[in-house]
Order: sequence, then C-alpha cells, then structure tokens
Amino acid sequence: MTAQQPREAHEPYIFELAWILPSIAIPTAMLVAVIIAAFGMGIHLPGLGTTVDPARLSETPPFDTPGLTQIGPNRYQLTIIASAWQFQPNEVRVPVGAQVDIVATSRDVIHGFEIPGTDVNLMLIPGRVTRTTITFSKQGNYQFMCHEYCGVGHHLMWGRIIVEGTP
Ligand code: CUA
Repeated sequence: MTAQQPREAHEPYIFELAWILPSIAIPTAMLVAVIIAAFGMGIHLPGLGTTVDPARLSETPPFDTPGLTQIGPNRYQLTIIASAWQFQPNEVRVPVGAQVDIVATSRDVIHGFEIPGTDVNLMLIPGRVTRTTITFSKQGNYQFMCHEYCGVGHHLMWGRIIVEGTP
C-alpha cells in the first residue's frame, strides 16, 4: 500500500477553475442575451406573433377583407390569403415609393410567398399570421409566387404587384 501523497492542491485547482468558471459564465451570458433580445428588444421569430383560426378567416379581420388598404400617406396594408391553389388577391397596384405592410396567412396547407429580387420570402402556415414590410422604390411588375410545394396546383399559385407612376 502506498501512502497518499500530500496534495499540492493549489495549482490544479486554478486550472479547474479556469475551465469551470467560463463554462458557467458563457451559457449564463448567452441566456441573459436571449432574454434581453426577446423581452427587452422584442426580437422574435418572424411570423410567430399572432395566430388565427384558419376555418374562420372570412369573419376575422383583416382576413375578412383581403386586398390593399391605404393606412397612411403612401403606406398600405396588403392582406393576403393563400389557399390551394391561389392567392387572394392575386393582383394589386401601388404607387411607386409605397411602403406595403404584408399580412398573410394560409387557409389550408403550408404555402410560400416570395417576391423574387426583394427580401420578401415568407412561409404561410395555417393558423399563423405572417407579416413583413417592403418599400417599392422602383416601378415595375413584381411577380410573387408560392415556393412551398403544396400539391398538384402549386405552379398555378402566383400573382403580381404592379408598382406604377414616377418616383
Ligand atoms: Cu401554394 Cu405551393
């Protein structure tokens, strides 16, 4: 039987502490950052803000009146319902420079809403309200389409936003 060496505890303890403290401090700092972002700065996943009953869209504002509504000087709300296999509405006209708040949902299955060439790229989930904002600073035809495969009529799901006038 060998006698136990008297422990030189001091130096290993410092090394252990150098590992243990950051492994507690880093996750704690991350948790604090997440809490500050979520509750202090209001940063959330897009589209998870509001829910809606997909079976009652026709009686739930704003989806009871899909389409374009002017809500301010050169500012509009575009309410869109996706369903198999169409967008409602599928054509709107806005003046150039218009800021458009898009509010969209799906009536049945998961659809997509993409305006190529812009930052608008949404997933439309039944029961969820998805929102984004876009400013159209150039005139032209902005086609939008469903980019989540949703069945045999998927390729029929498109429409356009016509931006008209001179800036
Ligand atoms: Cu709707 Cu693909």
